[in-house]
Amino acid sequence: MITAMRAVCPGSFDPMTLGHVDVVRRAAAMFDEVVVAVAVNPAKQGLFTVDERRDLIAGAVGDLPNVTTAAFSGLLVDWCREQGVGVIAKGLRSDTDYAYELPMAQMNRHLTGVDTVFLTADPAHTFVSSSLVKEVARGGGDVSAFLTPAVLDALRTKLG
Ligand code: PNS
Repeated sequence: MITAMRAVCPGSFDPMTLGHVDVVRRAAAMFDEVVVAVAVNPAKQGLFTVDERRDLIAGAVGDLPNVTTAAFSGLLVDWCREQGVGVIAKGLRSDTDYAYELPMAQMNRHLTGVDTVFLTADPAHTFVSSSLVKEVARGGGDVSAFLTPAVLDALRTKLG
């Protein structure tokens, strides 16, 4: 039986880094469709709005014909079931990521059977995170190596 495989790359993407871009591009080469889904968390005020994050994601990976963006709230697995998404694809940078991601992957599989596939981060990106990029940028550091030009522009505008 041949079935189209839809995967989701979920995350906060506040904002998307080149590490995210790499994972999404590699996932897009593996699955028929990839949805980059921004988690909406009312309890956590981000730097970028959810719509801004989606726009920046679309700008970074919108050239890929099988990639779309979405936003979700509540449990990721419930959204996956609603959307017919069978796989969660995530990047793994370190053992710290693994310790954080493993219980979530196991819980998600327990809840609905949806599996998580981990893509090992490119070594160039293992130390890159949205939060660190924002902290360095706020302090006036150069983060141009970690972002697309459009995301870099948006970050500079946001931080004034
Ligand atoms: O980019 P992040 O912040 O590391 O992404 C984490 C995210 C949003 C993917 C994760 O926290 C998540 O899936 N949240 C949705 C709520 C949920 O399903 N929680 C139960 C996980 S077992």
